[in-house]
Amino acid sequence: MKYKYLNIDLKKGYRDIAKLYELNNHLMTFYLDIYWRKIMVKDIFNNIINRINIGSIIYFMDICVGTGDLLFEFINFLNSKSFNFSFKFLALDFSVDMLKIAKSKLLLKDVIFILADVAKIPIKDKKMDISTISLGIRNLRTNDELFEIRFKEIYRIIKDGGVFWGLETSRPPNKIIRFFSDLFTAYVATNIAKVVSKNIEVYGYLADSIRNFYEPYEFRDFLLNKIKFKEVSYKLLTFGVVAIHKAIK
Ligand SMILES: C[S@@+](CC[C@H](N)C(=O)[O-])C[C@H]1O[C@@H](n2cnc3c(N)ncnc32)[C@H](O)[C@@H]1O
Repeated sequence: MKYKYLNIDLKKGYRDIAKLYELNNHLMTFYLDIYWRKIMVKDIFNNIINRINIGSIIYFMDICVGTGDLLFEFINFLNSKSFNFSFKFLALDFSVDMLKIAKSKLLLKDVIFILADVAKIPIKDKKMDISTISLGIRNLRTNDELFEIRFKEIYRIIKDGGVFWGLETSRPPNKIIRFFSDLFTAYVATNIAKVVSKNIEVYGYLADSIRNFYEPYEFRDFLLNKIKFKEVSYKLLTFGVVAIHKAIK
């Protein structure tokens, strides 16, 4: 398969698609993106319940926050639960336009927004209990060197014992399902997005980047070997079209 779009100007791309980003995401995934985030949110919450002492403040940073969908889901989920600890939320993205939408959505929630590239996070070492990325991991691999720099930054800001959670599109392990999933991504999903957002380059890039990204076990090994997280594990959802990785510092 050829990759035509991997070298586009991503910051500009995100600016161009920001307004229709959520609608596109929902249409391209048949609204499964909402379900996938819900699963990760539940996993994170259950993990917190099991790990963190009641009464503590939990520092939670969503990286590549985009329009804020994951934080929105997490904060809504908290409203349906009773617990005795509190959260400090931070949200990071390098796109002003994405952050503007996230801010308007999370207006009444107590969230600190940070405009920065993941390569240089303006936070001191070991501050976060939890760092998350949903559907933005593969976008950090503009090249292998930067990918490593960005993940070392994520590792740096997490406390010892803190957890990184990553939700990312993947390619199903079953060869037949993978074949159809690749076709779907390359032709159907991308064309839906092109019609809705009229942006061939960005959605061409997003499709290329799915096929060009690590297999889930390769990303686990990258986290383990290069970044030195411990207890790295992952689970596949929806036949493996997405994976949720969990890694402890
Ligand atoms: C595909 S969107 C994911 C948004 C959201 N997390 C979600 O679940 O839908 C990827 C986001 O990552 C941001 N992003 C990409 N590369 C980045 C980088 N190097 N530093 C900071 N943000 C980045 C983009 O601006 C965009 O908002």
